[in-house]
Amino acid sequence: MEFNPADNIQDLQYFGEFGGVNPSISDSSTYTFLSAKTMFDTFEGNAEGCYLYSRHSSPSNLYLDKALAAMEGTESANVAASGMGAITPALLQLCGNGDHIVASRTIYGGTYAFLKNFTPKFGISTSFVDITKLDLVEAAITKDTKVLYCETVSNPLLEIADIAGLSKIAKRHNLKLIVDNTFSPLSVAPARLGADIVIHSLTKYINGSSDTVGGVCCASQEFISSLKNVNDGASMLLGPTMDSLRSASVMKNLRTLHIRMKQHSYNAMYLAQRFENDGIKTVYPGLESHPGHQLYKTMINPEYGFGGMMTLDVGSPEKANELMELMQAENLGYLAVSLGFYKTLFSAPGTSTSSEIPLEERIQMGLTDGLIRFSIGLDNDINRTYRMMKECMQKVGVLMNELVAD
Ligand SMILES: Cc1ncc(COP(=O)(O)O)c(C=O)c1O
Repeated sequence: MEFNPADNIQDLQYFGEFGGVNPSISDSSTYTFLSAKTMFDTFEGNAEGCYLYSRHSSPSNLYLDKALAAMEGTESANVAASGMGAITPALLQLCGNGDHIVASRTIYGGTYAFLKNFTPKFGISTSFVDITKLDLVEAAITKDTKVLYCETVSNPLLEIADIAGLSKIAKRHNLKLIVDNTFSPLSVAPARLGADIVIHSLTKYINGSSDTVGGVCCASQEFISSLKNVNDGASMLLGPTMDSLRSASVMKNLRTLHIRMKQHSYNAMYLAQRFENDGIKTVYPGLESHPGHQLYKTMINPEYGFGGMMTLDVGSPEKANELMELMQAENLGYLAVSLGFYKTLFSAPGTSTSSEIPLEERIQMGLTDGLIRFSIGLDNDINRTYRMMKECMQKVGVLMNELVAD
C-alpha cells in the first residue's frame, strides 16, 4: 500500500505571513472585502480563497483541515471545537425526520447517548448492532437507513470493525459509512478502506497533550462544503467552530504524531503481552488472543502498530477502584478519562465514559464493572512501568505475590 499518512504530513509546507516557518495565526472573526461584488460571490460560495466569517472558515483552521485531509487521504476536512462537534453535524447533515442509522453498539458513550436519546427528538432512529458481525449489520438495514456508523477500534471494548466489509454493505444499500478513527490515527486509514467520512476527536492522540478538546470530519469536498453551507450546513448553522489559536497549536502537535504513536503502540504491546502472561484478562488488538487480531493485521500500517489502548479486567469495581487509586498514588499515571497523553490514563468505563449505556446492555456486550481502560503513555522505560504496575496489582490482590520477572 503506497499510502503513508506521516509522509503526507511531513511533506506539507506552509509559509507564515512574514516567512515564518509556522503559518501566521489568523486572529480575526471577520474579513474585509475590497469590493461588494466579491462579498456577494463569497456568500454564494463562488470566491475561492476569500474568507467570510470565522464560524465558516479561517486561514488557521484551513491549514489544519488540509493537514488532516492529507493524513486521512480524503479530498477535504473540517475541524471542529470538539470530537462531538464533528460527529453530531455529520450525522445531522445526512439524516432527518424518518431516517434511520445502523450503529455499532460499542461506541463512545457520548455518541451512543446522542443517537439513543437526542436524535429521536428529530425523528431519527438508530439500531445498535454487533459491528463485528456483518450479517447482523446488513439485517438491521431498512428502507429508511441512511448511515452506517462505527469506530475502527471501539471504545472501550477495542472491537475491530471490518471497514472494507462494511463499506461493501454501505455501497450495496446506498448508505454513507462514517468511521470514528480516534483510537487508531496513522495506523488505519479508513477512507482508503472505503469509508465515506472519517471522524477524529483531536482531543486524544492527534493533539496528544490533553490541553484542549477538538474534532475533525474528513470527507469529500462535496460533503465538507455541504457541512459549511451558509443556508443548510450543520457545521455552519450549529456553530461548533474551533478557535484559530487552538487549531494552530493542534497543528504543531500533529507533526510529532508518528513518533508518539510508535511509542504508545510499543509500550501497550509490551504491557499487554506481560499482563496476559500473568493471567489477567487482557484485551489488546495486538494480542493473538484478540478476536479481531487477524483482521486488524490486514488493516493497519504496521509501522504504527496496534495502538496505545488496552483493557484489563480485574474482577470487580472495588478492585478496579483500589488499583487505579494506588497506581495514581505511585505516579504511574492519572485516574482520568480521555486518552493519548504522555502519561498513562486509566478509568473504569462502566462507571464513567460508558455509564450512559444501560447496565443490561453493558453486561450483554461484555463491558464489566471490573474493566479498566488504559491509554498507555510514552514511558521511556516500559519495563520499569511494568514492574511498578505489577507491584500495585499484588498489593491490592489482583495478582498473587511472586518474583517479578522481566
Ligand atoms: C472514540 C471517541 N470519539 C469521540 C469522542 C468525543 O470527542 P470529544 O470529547 O473531543 O468531543 C471521544 C471522547 O472521549 C472518543 O473517545
